[in-house]
Amino acid sequence: MSESTSTSGIQSVLQEDRVFAPSAAVSAAAHVHSLDAYKALHARSIADPDGFWGEIAKELHWYSPWSKVLEWDQPDAKWFVGGKTNLCYNCVDRQVDAGHGDEPAIIWEGEPVGGGGAEVRTLSYADMQRGISRFANGMKSLGVKKGDIVTVYMGMVPELAMAVLACARIGAAHSVIFGGFSAQAIADRVVDASSQTIITCDGSWRRGNIVPLKENVDEACKMLGEKAPANVIVVKRCENEIGWTAGRDYWWGELCEGQSEECACEPMDSEDLLFVLYTSGTTGKPKGIMHTTGGYMVYTYLTSKMTFDLRPDEGHVYWCTADVGWVTGHSYIIYGIMPNRVPTVMFEGAPNHPGPDRFWDVVARHKVTHFYTAPTAIRAFMKWGDEHPQKHDLSSLQVLGTVGEPINPEAWMWYHRMIGGERCPIVDTWWQTETGGHMITPLPGAVPTKPGSCTVPFFGVDAAIVTEQGEELGADEGGLLAIRKPWPAMLRGILGDRDRFVATYWDDIKKPDGTRFYKAGDGARRDKDGYFWIMGRVDDVINVSGHRLGTMEVESALVSHETVVEAAVVGMPHEIKGTGIAAFCTLASGVTADDALRKTLRAHVGNEIGAIAKPDLIRFTDVLPKTRSGKIMRRLLRDIASGKEGSGDTTTLEDKGVLEQLRKNDKG
Ligand code: WTA
Repeated sequence: MSESTSTSGIQSVLQEDRVFAPSAAVSAAAHVHSLDAYKALHARSIADPDGFWGEIAKELHWYSPWSKVLEWDQPDAKWFVGGKTNLCYNCVDRQVDAGHGDEPAIIWEGEPVGGGGAEVRTLSYADMQRGISRFANGMKSLGVKKGDIVTVYMGMVPELAMAVLACARIGAAHSVIFGGFSAQAIADRVVDASSQTIITCDGSWRRGNIVPLKENVDEACKMLGEKAPANVIVVKRCENEIGWTAGRDYWWGELCEGQSEECACEPMDSEDLLFVLYTSGTTGKPKGIMHTTGGYMVYTYLTSKMTFDLRPDEGHVYWCTADVGWVTGHSYIIYGIMPNRVPTVMFEGAPNHPGPDRFWDVVARHKVTHFYTAPTAIRAFMKWGDEHPQKHDLSSLQVLGTVGEPINPEAWMWYHRMIGGERCPIVDTWWQTETGGHMITPLPGAVPTKPGSCTVPFFGVDAAIVTEQGEELGADEGGLLAIRKPWPAMLRGILGDRDRFVATYWDDIKKPDGTRFYKAGDGARRDKDGYFWIMGRVDDVINVSGHRLGTMEVESALVSHETVVEAAVVGMPHEIKGTGIAAFCTLASGVTADDALRKTLRAHVGNEIGAIAKPDLIRFTDVLPKTRSGKIMRRLLRDIASGKEGSGDTTTLEDKGVLEQLRKNDKG
C-alpha cells in the first residue's frame, strides 16, 4: 500500500496489489469464460456498436423493429430508432407466453417476524401479469394515460414492483421517491413532474417502527394546495391510522376490485419516457434524470445477465438489497433482472431487525445465489461481528456484488472471506443514476478482481481518464472519469432543464475539435492493467452511505431555518457511512449556539430533505473561510472536519483568523 500520484490536482494514494482470479469452475460455467474473451467482445462492441447492440436487442420482444440502432448528435442519443416495445411485456408477459408463467418472479419478505416467522409472498410471472393488469386498469379508470408521470412513494412491498410495471404497461412514466424523503421533498418533485397521481402505502415497516408514508403525502398535498395531485392511491400495509380525503384517496384493493385481469401492453416508441428519477447535483434543486424505453431495457437486461452471470433454469435466486427508491432498485431489482427469468428477492426491512443477522437469515432461507449490496452495509456487518454471518449457511451464494461508493480493500476482503467463503467472485459495479446501468465492472467468470477496483468497462462503454481538454492520461495518473461514446441506457436529459443537462454533463470535457465527453463527476485513475480505481466525487456532491446528496441541498435546508444565516456543508470520513456530513453554520445575532440548537437543526434538515441528510457534525462559527471574491473555501473546511491539520494553501484566504476559530471550536 501507499505511494501517491497526482495530476490535474487529483491525488491518488491507494495502491493495492492483490489479484483474485475466478476459479476454473466459475469461468467454465460463465457467459464469458476468460479475460481474452471479454477483451475481444469489448473491442467489437466499441468498433461496431450497431452490430453488437442490434444482436442483443433481438433477444428481447419488439412489436416492430428499429430502422437504425443508434443516432448520435452529441450530446443527444437515440437508440433503436423507430422500434416499438414494452418493458413490462419483456419483464412479465414474455415469460408467461413462453410457458414460464408458474415460475417465481418475485420472492418478497416482510420485515416483522412474528411467531410463525417472517411473512413471505412468492409471486409467479402469471400472478404478476394478473396483478399488474388489474392495477393498470384501475389507474386507467382514474384517467391515468400514456405520457403522464405517476409519482410512487411506497415501502418495499410487492405492490411497488406492480405499480412501476403497471405504469410501464400503459405507457405512463413513473417518478419513484425514496420512502425516507420528507413531505417537502415529495412536494418539490410532484411539482417538477406535474404529477397528477401518487401511489403510496398507509405506512412502511422500518426497524420495527412504522414510517407514516400516507401522512407525509397528505402533508405534501397540503403544501401543494392547488397543485396537489388529483389521485392518491393507498396500499394497506401497516394498518396504521391515516387521514382520508374522499374523492382524492383510493385504496389499492378497492381500485383493483372488479377490474379485468387483462390489460394489453402499450407498444411504446423506443425513445418514449420510461421514468424520471430525481438525484442530487451541485445546486439545491434535485435533477429529474430521464430514461427512455428501448436502450434502457436492452442495457439493463445485458448488464444483469453478464455482470451477475444470471442464467435461467439453474436455480438462481437473486437478491439486491437496495430500495426501489434508488436507481439500483429500478435497474437491478426489477427492469434488468426480470427479463432474465431469475427470481428477484424483495426485502422490506432493515439489515439489523430483529437482529444483526437478518440478511444472512434471508440468504440461508431463500438459498440466495446472487447477493448485491452497498459498501456501507458491509462495513456495518464487519462492525457487528463475524458471529452473525457464521450462524447461517451461506453456501448457496455464488456471486457477490457492491455498488454506490468505493469499497475499501479491508471491507472487500471481509466480504470475500466471511460472506463469499473465498469462492464467490465479487463484482464491484461503478455506475450512476444517469448511466442507467453498470458501466465499469468485472464479469464473474472473466475478469480477475483487485480489492477496491471496479476493474474494466462494460461492453459498449468507452471509459477513460482525461483532462478537461479530453486528453487521455497515462497509467496511474489521477484525472476526470469520462465516457467518450454513447451507450444505450444513458440519460436522455434532465426533466424541464435542457441547459442544466448540457452544462452538467457535456460542457466541461471538450476536445479542441469540439468533441464532447460525458463527465461523470468522479475522479479516478486507471492502473497499468487498465483497471479503474474510483477516487470519489470532484464536485459538491457527497456520497453518504452510498446515497448521493448535494452539499447545496443540505445548505439550503440549514439556511431555511430562522437561526442560520449562512451554512457550508462538506463531507468528512465516517467509519460506517463512508462519508459523513459536516455543517459549518453562522448564526443570526442573539441566537445561542448550543447542543439544543444542534438538535433542532438536525431535525429541521430531516424535515426538509429526509433523515439521510441530517448532519453528523454541526459547528457554529462567526465567519466562514472565504476567498477575497467571496467563495467559501470548502477544501479548508474539509480538512478541519476530517481533523487534518490544514497544511493546504491558505494564500487566498481573506481572514486568516477564521481558521484558528474554527479549529478551536471543535466540539461537534
Ligand atoms: C459513486 C448509484 C465507487 C460514484 C448506482 C458515482 C461508486 C455515484 C460506485 C453515483 C463504485 C457508485 N465504486 N464509486 N462501485 N458506484 N459510485 O447516482 O461517485 O446514486 O458517481 O448511483 O456513486 O451515485 P448514484
